[in-house]
Amino acid sequence: MAQLVPVDVFDLIIFGGTGDLALRKLLPALYHRDRDGQITGDSRIVSVGRSAQSRDDYLGLVEKALRDNLDSGEFDADFWKAFSKRIEYVEADALAHDQWMALKAVLSGNEDRIRVAYLATAPSLFGPIATGLKVNGLITDNSRIVLEKPLGRDLASASEINDEVGRCFAENQIYRIDHYLGKETVQNLLALRFANSLFEPLWRRGAVDHVQITVAEELGVGGRIDFYDRVGALRDMVQNHLLQLVCLTAMEAPSSLHHDAVRDEKIKVLRALRPIDSDAVRGDTVRGQYAAGAIKGNTVPGYDEELGDAKSSTETFVALKVQIDNWRWSNVPFYLRTGKRLKGKHSEIIIQFQDVPHSIFPEQEFNVMPNRLTIRLQPDEGVKLSLMAKEPGPGGFDLRSVSLDLSFEETFGIRYPDAYERLLMEVLRGNPALFMRRDEVDAAWTWIDGIIAGWEESRQKIETYVAGSWGPTASSMLLDRDGRAWYPEL
Ligand code: BG6
Repeated sequence: MAQLVPVDVFDLIIFGGTGDLALRKLLPALYHRDRDGQITGDSRIVSVGRSAQSRDDYLGLVEKALRDNLDSGEFDADFWKAFSKRIEYVEADALAHDQWMALKAVLSGNEDRIRVAYLATAPSLFGPIATGLKVNGLITDNSRIVLEKPLGRDLASASEINDEVGRCFAENQIYRIDHYLGKETVQNLLALRFANSLFEPLWRRGAVDHVQITVAEELGVGGRIDFYDRVGALRDMVQNHLLQLVCLTAMEAPSSLHHDAVRDEKIKVLRALRPIDSDAVRGDTVRGQYAAGAIKGNTVPGYDEELGDAKSSTETFVALKVQIDNWRWSNVPFYLRTGKRLKGKHSEIIIQFQDVPHSIFPEQEFNVMPNRLTIRLQPDEGVKLSLMAKEPGPGGFDLRSVSLDLSFEETFGIRYPDAYERLLMEVLRGNPALFMRRDEVDAAWTWIDGIIAGWEESRQKIETYVAGSWGPTASSMLLDRDGRAWYPEL
């Protein structure tokens, strides 16, 4: 286990303290960090919510959430007693000017400690909450603000939010979360690329044929359907998580791990993405929506049914062929796909290398597979390198694809911390490297806005796919047209 560096004493204010994110992710993450001794002194978690309830009622809610969301055996009743002492509950509606007094009173006298406002709320509240913190004199020199995604729904709305928050906090106090950047395996991509010299000479056009990035989910949209129907997979997943994976895969080596050095390289990738306009959307993008089907033997309803049999043109699946216009990646397509209600929860990046230039095994012509490096993000985090080998035996010369397969969990033998554990500690420590800078968010939206405009102009149709499949046929056709196929159909 990497060494745990304790964080200085803090007050962490969670706006949206009774919401799903706070209860399912943030509080369990803080519980783990506290249990490992990373939270020091009398640091406090101040949850702000609109519901009228006592502190004891709120603690009851948190205890239940921890019991439900921690892995089995991780809830420790004795430790809970100590952890719960850190938690305060403040009832307040951030939009009501007269309701900030209670929060002011709770924070008063703690001006010297680290103060973090975590906005686990709808983005429409980001500006008003930042302003509320400012006008109520709650922003100290040691204050930071954390913004959850989605940060707007296009460049214009994201800019409005960023401007409003930017009037209250300096850019270096603003932490925009993309939880994929907190995943161990995503950070491992940096280690794989820049702590090994093996891959660098091959990590480019001339050696790489193409790259595939898949983020597949089994879950449907469930209880979030009202929100999701206004958003869709492109905004929900591609604008942030998948583009971040593209950046970390494609970027040049930063000169250091300094937060701006890494983010400067990522933004160059975003700016080099070839725009997909209305002429290109038909050939380079696929939009899909799930129909009823079955996942692991269980029947699941279609998206329309979940929506109450209303017709919707929101995509729950998207596949894209992306070109990065720079020297390293010229003409090396990156194929991206993500969707709900697919066959499995499965995220990976595959670097497929080129075919051998000349085969000396003519009888094996169709058996020689190009080498492939698979970086598994979830589940079973690890790295796999597929190589060709001779099948053992005295007769003939038969080739077979074999793998060097490294499972991180087996290798390191530890629990993989949730992304939020890492991200919360980084905010408290004041390290913004794993968070998105404003120019990154703007560049990602600029590119995504082009696709959305292209879809609207060309009235790109939505393809149906059966829940439990790997998405619409058009997604396979996207690669088939280039003589390629998605890996792996598990
Ligand atoms: C969130 C999206 O950002 O990421 C969700 O809003 C999605 O729709 C989730 O389910 C996926 O995260 P993970 O960590 O489960 O891959």
